[in-house]
Amino acid sequence: MFCVREQSADQPRRRIVPLQPSDLDAWLDSASGAAQGWVRGREFEAEPGTSIVVPDEAGSPSTVLVGYSPDAPTWALTGLPASLPAGEYTLSGDFSDRTLSLFAIGWALGHYRFDRYKPGKRPACRLEVPEHLRERLEIFRDAMFRVRDLVNTPAADLGPEELAEVAADLAERCEATFSQVTGTELEREFPAIHAVGRASSRAPRLIRMEWGDPAHPPLALVGKGVIFDTGGLSIKPTSGMALMKKDMGGAAHALGLAELVMRLKLPVHLRVYIPAVENAISGNAYRPSDILKTRNGTTIEIGNTDAEGRVVLSDALTLAAEEGAQRIIDFATLTGAARVALGEDLPPLYSRSTEQARAIQDLSLAIEDPLWHMPLYRPYKQQIEPKIADLSNTGSTSQGGSLTAALFLDHFVPEGIDWMHLDIYAWNLSDRPGRPAGGEAQCLRTIFEWLEDQYK
Ligand code: BES
Ligand code: ZN
Ligand code: ZN
Repeated sequence: MFCVREQSADQPRRRIVPLQPSDLDAWLDSASGAAQGWVRGREFEAEPGTSIVVPDEAGSPSTVLVGYSPDAPTWALTGLPASLPAGEYTLSGDFSDRTLSLFAIGWALGHYRFDRYKPGKRPACRLEVPEHLRERLEIFRDAMFRVRDLVNTPAADLGPEELAEVAADLAERCEATFSQVTGTELEREFPAIHAVGRASSRAPRLIRMEWGDPAHPPLALVGKGVIFDTGGLSIKPTSGMALMKKDMGGAAHALGLAELVMRLKLPVHLRVYIPAVENAISGNAYRPSDILKTRNGTTIEIGNTDAEGRVVLSDALTLAAEEGAQRIIDFATLTGAARVALGEDLPPLYSRSTEQARAIQDLSLAIEDPLWHMPLYRPYKQQIEPKIADLSNTGSTSQGGSLTAALFLDHFVPEGIDWMHLDIYAWNLSDRPGRPAGGEAQCLRTIFEWLEDQYK
């Protein structure tokens, strides 16, 4: 979907001209009378989200005008690949690398189809991008497509074992090491992960990857890998269960971000931890009122077996800290409450540093990969401190559910570690150009670009 100037320069390239409404008159003044008539006759005003194909004298579609806003370029081109004829296109105009990259990412996302079960034709349009940006753009595209594919794959074909295979495959491609803990060792070493996952016929596990120079700063990524969330004995209603194949979205994001870190060679010592389980129902399922003892010795009273994500993450966060991470970032489709608070597109970011969270939020808005800073308000911790155990996985009220879930995770990360938590949705509810209904990579570009700046 991308090409560079040198290659196949003999093929004619059609021009894509991004215009703001205020640019349109100047463009028309320099165009032929026929083109002016064509554009004016169709009442094209260069409003963001609109486009028009302008034929040349021979009647072939040589120029595409697209409306855009300079502070929101990402989705300007995204509808084009599906609607334009196959071929090569070049952008005309003078744009910064950042703007060009955002145009190109939107363009790439406009090619996405989940075609594993129903093969279809992906658009065959190629956009010329500067040579020095091409590889980076392709790596971003690959990571985002892989996150979407993973989230879209039903649990029948993506269990804990298959998720581990995906991680092993990524590790092999990027020269990382892969390991996993299962069975009695999991039960002994990671009791919380085992307790949640043991009811499934598909064995729970902790997936682990390691990459990079041990002399570099240690960075850990943790992702919730619940391959399907029935709710367990606190079973979800049909409507609440419908999308729960996406409950490994956090794991998909951790793997997607790891792919960016490794392929773009960030100078970090990276470790990835994924508790991979199915929250299933059977005679040996963990129960409401059970009290579990986690890896770090914390006792957890189970108020609701549907609040399983925080339980499995507890052991993974403990291990990440034990292994020396200075910074831990976790991704998890953790609460419905996060959606009530901020809706589907805006993941809450919890951070121990307000200043850092605000900087990341600002970056996220600038590159149109949004998230929103939320408070880690510690006084609410008492809501998740029951009488007969250290922590409860539900708490005394249903208010502030995304925040109290974050405070639960906070308990497992020792002070002094720069820990951040993203309560993602990983899903588009409806079709938008470039963002079909289904799995979505959220705030991946943002977190990567922020990390890139931190470790440069
Ligand atoms: N996987 C869900 C959270 C979820 C639900 C994310 C819907 C996105 C959309 C999680 O395991 C869960 O069920 N959480 C419960 C927690 C509650 C029982 C305290 C929730 O949010 O209702
Ligand atoms: Zn749940
Ligand atoms: Zn869940």
